[in-house]
Amino acid sequence: MRLNIAVLPGDGIGPEVTNQAIKALKAIAMEFDHTFTFTYAPVGAIAIDQTGNPLPEETLDVCETTDAILFGAIGDPKYDNDPSAKVRPEQGLLRLRKSLGLYANIRPVKAYDTLIDKSPLKKHIIKGTDISIYRELTGGIYFGKKHLSDDGNVASDLCEYSREEIERIAHLAFKAAQSRKHKVTLVDKANVLESSRLWRKVVTEVATNYKDVELDFLFVDNAAMQMILNPKQFDVILTENMFGDIISDEASVIGGSIGLLASASVGDKYAMFEPIHGSFPQAKGKGIANPIASILSAAMLLDHFNLHTEANLIRIAVEKSLKLHITTQDINTKHDNVTTEKVGDFIEDYILHPNDSNL
Ligand code: IPM
Ligand code: MN
Repeated sequence: MRLNIAVLPGDGIGPEVTNQAIKALKAIAMEFDHTFTFTYAPVGAIAIDQTGNPLPEETLDVCETTDAILFGAIGDPKYDNDPSAKVRPEQGLLRLRKSLGLYANIRPVKAYDTLIDKSPLKKHIIKGTDISIYRELTGGIYFGKKHLSDDGNVASDLCEYSREEIERIAHLAFKAAQSRKHKVTLVDKANVLESSRLWRKVVTEVATNYKDVELDFLFVDNAAMQMILNPKQFDVILTENMFGDIISDEASVIGGSIGLLASASVGDKYAMFEPIHGSFPQAKGKGIANPIASILSAAMLLDHFNLHTEANLIRIAVEKSLKLHITTQDINTKHDNVTTEKVGDFIEDYILHPNDSNL
């Protein structure tokens, strides 16, 4: 297969982790006789430095003319400490999601047996956890009308959803549940928010098309508690934009590190693959960033094009690296000198020589 992939490494540790994902993809191309080409483009703080715009027109053009996008991370402390900054790196990511219509963000959360001791949560609580979070990504409070009063003392962000926005992601979540454990949990705040009541109504209607899937509801405060009390109760979690952002960071604790969580952001036309972690600027260039979330995002990219054998080989290589403790510090208590690059090298080697008995 020929795939032209846009690569948007972004800021902080984005470039170093993305490099490892590209090594894995190149190894897959070699092993399975595919042709993958990579077109780089700037986004985030680095794009602001270069052009004044966190999402330059040329970057959007590259994304619109390639088959898929591999995204690193964005964010820079110099903007976080300046709340009055008008241009912010995050706008690059948000505009990209909106412009490309990437309305569904899929975030798988798994407890790996080999990392079961790394989570601060008790083993028996997390063992066997396998959740797929469907986070709405182009609506809600992130994109509603914003307002700041003239005197700067009153501010508001509107949370708005339409039936259509809810329906399209709900269908994806139910379809996913059909090939999993046949359960969808809608996370909302329907006891308080009108927008959440619309979610409940529309999702209940959509559910009638999927009689083999059980639909459950949880208020987001309770869901946050259930996520760490009994995560095994969840199969597919469906939720709006901001609740999904918060719940997915919380869920990463189950896996032992946020450095493991990959995601796919899909719409009707385009698809982007990105780790859920941020740019972790303190770690930039130190070789300590965990590349696995980015590498697993590359596996999700392959799945998107039905290259499941290839995607699974990446996942097997990742599991092997975890088993052998060829991992970065965040999940490694045995060795403290395994760098980002070394993890990438191991996974690349494993893909190229999966049957080598030394691996
Ligand atoms: C994420 C990030 C983004 C979000 C930020 C960087 C805008 O936290 O992808 O989860 O809030 O969606
Ligand atoms: Mn987030």
